[in-house]
Parts: sequence; structure tokens; C-alpha cells
Amino acid sequence: MIDLTIVFDNYKGEPGFETGWGYSCVVKRNDEFLLFDTGADGQKLISNIKKAKIDPFLISKIILSHAHKDHTGGLKEIQSLMPEAEIYAGVSFYEEVKKLFPYARLFKVSSEVLKVNQGVYLTGELEGEVKETALVLEAKDGVIVLTGCAHPGIEKIIEKVTSEIKPKVLAILGGLHLLDKTEEEIKNVIVRLESKDVRLLAPSHCTGELALKLFKQHFKERFLKVGVGTTINFEDKQEKVLQDKKDDNFGCQWKGWNR
Ligand SMILES: [Fe+2]
Ligand SMILES: [Fe+2]
Repeated sequence: MIDLTIVFDNYKGEPGFETGWGYSCVVKRNDEFLLFDTGADGQKLISNIKKAKIDPFLISKIILSHAHKDHTGGLKEIQSLMPEAEIYAGVSFYEEVKKLFPYARLFKVSSEVLKVNQGVYLTGELEGEVKETALVLEAKDGVIVLTGCAHPGIEKIIEKVTSEIKPKVLAILGGLHLLDKTEEEIKNVIVRLESKDVRLLAPSHCTGELALKLFKQHFKERFLKVGVGTTINFEDKQEKVLQDKKDDNFGCQWKGWNR
């Protein structure tokens, strides 16, 4: 299974988790734990990770999508807890991270696709108002794409994923930065996502209220309302399907607060 648990978000998910502006998600895949972004506040992040019954000491890799503080603000605390964890930072802010953590196990993410592990990829930094990399996980029915803020544009990110990593996108999670977009612009994004046959959308953070509303209207049961504390489970690519799955669940189980 691939288990995704949102541990930092400005949207509420499950009761008992602390909200805050920013994003972070723990990825559990087989026995490996990755942390995608670190939210804005390390103490809140660690408290949410523990609340989700995840042992922060098991996190072996930290992926930073981009340099913004609401995605890197928790790095200091989490790094001091697990100094052995690998940190992946884009070339646009790698030197800043290196200055702050000279002894950390740092990896530079260029603009090229990077295979981090079997079935785990980074898109590499894409150009935009802020350079940003997305995390891509190979699941049974396609890839799961995690974005921090999607500053380069979600269409551009999905284009790179489908042309250079895997052609089928199962799900998108994270911030989509459509806060300042008009209804027409958001509807164009929907058309582009449909043209790529994206099956599930679980956006949050900086996606914007209007975009969330239009996504929900359009994608219906393919739209998941998520927030801090939400966990989504996907079948891994290698797993055998033990029982027949209904066609409409896309190999995904989700415990949502407003289902
Ligand atoms: Fe953000
Ligand atoms: Fe951002």
C-alpha cells in the first residue's frame, strides 16, 4: 500500500490535528517513510505527525518542493530530530539549505526528472514565478502527483509527468495555487486535467475556494475534500489484487470528514 497522510495544511481534515498555513504530507510506501514538504512550523508538524500515529524517526527522506517558508519552515525541527534523513532541495535554493544544514545528507534536484527510488520520482524543478518540483509515486492504476503550491502551473507539471515519467495520472494532491484565477481560467485547468484523464483530485492548501468549489462540481466523486489529518491509501503497483475491486474506487480508499 501507499499511504498518504496530510500532516500540515490550512484546511481541517480529521479532528485533533492543528491547522496552519502551509503543506506537508507523509508518504508511507512499503516500509519507507518520506516527508513531502515541512509546513511552516516544526512543532506543529511534529505534533501532527505523532497524532497520525507515525513515528517521525522512521522518516528517511525529506523532499522540499520549493523555497517558500510555508513548505520549508518545519525543516529545522524535523532535521534535528532525524539528522540522518536525506534532504532533496531544488538547485534554485540548494545553497541556502546547505548553509543552514552543512552536515545534512543533501541532494540537489536539477530541472531533470530524478528517480529517488523504485517507483518514486521527482519532476525536477519546473520554471515558474517560483521554481518548484513535484513528487510522483507509482501506484497500481497510475501515478500519484504531490505538489507544494504548483507555482509553475498544474498543467505544466502534469504535462511533464505524463510525457517524461508515466502516461497515466491516478491522483493529484497538494496546493494548486489557483487563488487568483477567474472562473474561466479554472475551467480551462479542468479541461486540461480531463484531457490528461486525471482520475482523482485531492487538492488543498493554496488551491483557492473558487477552484475547490468548481473542482467539486465538476469531478463529483472523483474530488476528495481533504485537510490536515486526512489519510488516503492507494494500492501499490507491485501488489496483487486479492479481491475484485469496484470500478469506481480507482484502487483508492479514503476516510474523508465530509464524505
Ligand atoms: Fe504554499
Ligand atoms: Fe509557495
